[in-house]
Amino acid sequence: DKVYLNGSIVNPADAKVSVFDRGFIFGDGLYEVMVQINGKFFYEKEHLDRLKSGLLKINIDFDVSLLSNEITTLLKVAELTDKDCMLYIQITRGVAPRQHSFPNDIKPTVMMYAVPKLLPEINTTNAHVITRSDFRWSRCDIKMTSLLGNVMLNEEAMQHECYETILHRNGVFTEASHCNVFFVKNGVVYTHPADEYILNGITRIVVIELCHALDIEIKETPISLQEIDTVDEAFLTGTSTQIAAIQKIDNHLLFTENKKGPVTQKLQEAFLKLK
Ligand code: PDD
Repeated sequence: DKVYLNGSIVNPADAKVSVFDRGFIFGDGLYEVMVQINGKFFYEKEHLDRLKSGLLKINIDFDVSLLSNEITTLLKVAELTDKDCMLYIQITRGVAPRQHSFPNDIKPTVMMYAVPKLLPEINTTNAHVITRSDFRWSRCDIKMTSLLGNVMLNEEAMQHECYETILHRNGVFTEASHCNVFFVKNGVVYTHPADEYILNGITRIVVIELCHALDIEIKETPISLQEIDTVDEAFLTGTSTQIAAIQKIDNHLLFTENKKGPVTQKLQEAFLKLK
């Protein structure tokens, strides 16, 4: 196991950050998760572009283009070059005496690590989900490290022996605690638009592109609370989840055992071919 921290690659025990790091004090930082499959990071550019635009939104001055070389070195030292693995990147505003406003002349703290990871067989996850009110803040487009809301909402799913919690705000479904959510109704695919109430997932973008390529009608229009019992199919998307069919929403069973809808199946098959 190796950790990249501010230009050095060290053992996890030696990867030390000040308690005055604003990431620790305020959750004032961003992160990315991407996976390497068959020797290549899946949509690396899109992940790094999202990180870059996130940093711009919160005014952290760091040149994301510096990361590509560092990632290559980290994988080499961690003996993960060409191995299936997950890479975590975190950039926080840096270390400064505690004050809410952004300090001047502060150096961001950059941390990355990679762990071997085999993704689940895409066709085997048939997720049970619960529904909850989305009580998070209203800048969910920012992939920030302060994930307390997401963590609490995911914990509720675990307590109910479910994989995810799908969230609704203002009467419509937004996303899930660590995934985006899609619905299928009368052959049309629906997902919440990429505004400030959701994270615009890279997998979400890929799935929308696949819909276009496969001539499946896709609407970035949310599904309402009232409509939820009338959807034909639903699925989750995310970097580690890929595309997971939803089998049950609260007590509403969409499919029994290993069955899933034709649109979900078609998208999963097309998704597999991208790797
Ligand atoms: N989760 N929505 C939320 C709230 C997320 O945290 C994630 C990703 C997604 C899907 O985004 P993408 O397709 O780019 O992975 C949507 C990451 C993987 C995590 O926190 O582990």
